[in-house]
Amino acid sequence: MFSRREKPLPVAVLKPDQRVQAEEAESPGIMLGQDVYWTPERLPNGHIVAIGASGSGKTQTLKAIAYELHRTYSAMQLVIIDFHGDQNLQGEVCYPLHMSSSYGVNPLYINLDPEGGGPNLQAIAVAATLKKALQMGPVQEGLLLEVLGDCYQHKGIIQNNESTWAKEPPNFADLQAEIEQRVKEGCKDSAKLKLKLNATFAYGIFNRPAFLLEHRLVRVDLCKLPPELGAIAAESLAKYLMDTHRLLGEVEGKIPRTYLFIDEAKEMAKSPALDRIIADGRKYGLNLVLASQSERHLSADVLGNAATKIVLPVDQVEVKKVAAKFRFAEQKVAALLPLTALCRFGKHAEQVEILPYYQRIEQWEGQENVE
Ligand SMILES: Nc1ncnc2c1ncn2[C@@H]1O[C@H](COP(=O)(O)OP(=O)(O)OP(=O)(O)O)[C@@H](O)[C@H]1O
Ligand SMILES: [Mg+2]
Repeated sequence: MFSRREKPLPVAVLKPDQRVQAEEAESPGIMLGQDVYWTPERLPNGHIVAIGASGSGKTQTLKAIAYELHRTYSAMQLVIIDFHGDQNLQGEVCYPLHMSSSYGVNPLYINLDPEGGGPNLQAIAVAATLKKALQMGPVQEGLLLEVLGDCYQHKGIIQNNESTWAKEPPNFADLQAEIEQRVKEGCKDSAKLKLKLNATFAYGIFNRPAFLLEHRLVRVDLCKLPPELGAIAAESLAKYLMDTHRLLGEVEGKIPRTYLFIDEAKEMAKSPALDRIIADGRKYGLNLVLASQSERHLSADVLGNAATKIVLPVDQVEVKKVAAKFRFAEQKVAALLPLTALCRFGKHAEQVEILPYYQRIEQWEGQENVE
């Protein structure tokens, strides 16, 4: 929940386990602006959805929240999916994904959950993601499913034998080889499928070993990829996070394990992984922060389930719809200025002058110099 109060005293230096206990006991939350604090563990869920036109302050707001979460919650991991390459944060580990980078994402990883995992469900999810991102027809999707099934089988991974799920999964290099084999054998549909997937294969990001999400502040920079490949990588990462959090089990305390940040939700409109995270993530300690220029890019699930809603200035043609969807008065939405936000924290609402990220690091650097 939000609260107004004096700036808290500096946090005492504690050993890691003491620190986690102290955070569980009385987290001050994070300062959004002026003296308004936001404390995710005091809300029904820690998800945030933000909306605002170009230049309204979405990126600066998201970066400010990420920066403060990282400084405040020592046990929390932050994963930033960065479509525009402008989400860089102090202290981050960045994985740029592009044609010549050495990092990759493997959409064909196996979810080890006996109840919702295995190669068949992964193949269905990947085929659906590729179908949407690359605009395939049902015939190509069906063929892709069949080929993916073969890829898993060649690696000895079989749906009804769980002990095989932990074997090394295939990647898109295997998918390419399998399709090329079929083309050689004269399959015309496979030739069309190959054509559709040529650019995906050429970028190579799904053929390389996947990086490990092991650092506390990770940014995945997708800005050098075409939007459709960025969307495939982002969907795969979001699904991976949801799957792995389910496997870890429900969280005991109220402090989330992980925050996933996505600026420019347009690239992931109607994402099944984001809908799952917004509906189920809280229990497993996985929370979402999503920003978009337009309410059209935010699904009903996302809008309905995020306990924190941030409205920055929107385009005049969007005012009416945004006011209705976010339940603020139209004239208040219409009068907003950049970096001024109408915020809804559970049942409470407040107008906040957001302290942007660029001013926070200026302050922080100033403090460091004084010391
Ligand atoms: N380093 C900086 N110094 C001064 N002002 C800045 C700085 N960075 C951003 N701003 C200003 O902060 C405001 C918010 O910018 P921000 O990038 O957060 O907008 P945005 O909503 O993400 O826009 P877009 O949708 O185009 O990405 C803008 O008015 C911008 O000019
Ligand atoms: Mg932005």
